[in-house]
Amino acid sequence: MSSQKSMNLTLQVWRQKSKRDAGGFTTYQAKGISPDQSFLEMLDVVNEELIAKGEDPIAFDHDCREGICGMCSLYINGAPHGGFPGTTTCQLHMRHFKDGDEITIEPWRAKPFPVLKDLIVDRTSFDRLVQAGGYVSVNTGGAPDANAVPIPKKEADLAMDAASCIGCGACVAACPNASAMLFVSAKISQLRHLPQGEAERKKRALNMLTRADKEGFGACRNHFECEAACPKDIPRRVMAEAYRDFIEASALREE
Ligand code: FES
Repeated sequence: MSSQKSMNLTLQVWRQKSKRDAGGFTTYQAKGISPDQSFLEMLDVVNEELIAKGEDPIAFDHDCREGICGMCSLYINGAPHGGFPGTTTCQLHMRHFKDGDEITIEPWRAKPFPVLKDLIVDRTSFDRLVQAGGYVSVNTGGAPDANAVPIPKKEADLAMDAASCIGCGACVAACPNASAMLFVSAKISQLRHLPQGEAERKKRALNMLTRADKEGFGACRNHFECEAACPKDIPRRVMAEAYRDFIEASALREE
């Protein structure tokens, strides 16, 4: 338990009724907030008060509240998830703020993530990118023996590092070009290091990166804001791997 006393905060929150509404900031007071509460619990307190007054609560995305599902997606004081290293909004604690602070809260800002309501954006474009990646070739039949397909530890670790992407979209929100390169590359990388992902490796990169263009995500210009904003510390090397596969696939297509 923190020894810090409870805080009163001023929130500037983006409110937007629907996709078509222009939206704008509304000021709220968050009173008696414990430093041990999470950022989402602080919003719960504000919403309880709004509901008690008969007002529309602030809509925001969340599910696991454990840094796993990737649903929480707030732009806090100008940074995705608040800008604390390796931290999702649901894992951000109010002890990082002080009594009297003013906090600005916005939804992700990117054309392929249209605002649905208040702080909730439509991230189905990410689902379509994953769909574009297609399947992996796995032989059906009886369950294979454990470890029947040996995978060097180094390769398994590289795949697991990439697989820790939770698809929250912070990389897109942080990028000045709204590029989805880090997200797409993590999904490509997690399969390319495994034998099961090898057969469709090049096609997967070509399809996913082509789809990203169609969805309206911008091109990567190597700002690496994505890497800095990623709450799961996905490294930039996954993007080099995805480019390599994409270039190989493009070259083969032109032959
Ligand atoms: S609510 Fe699941 S990662 Fe934040």
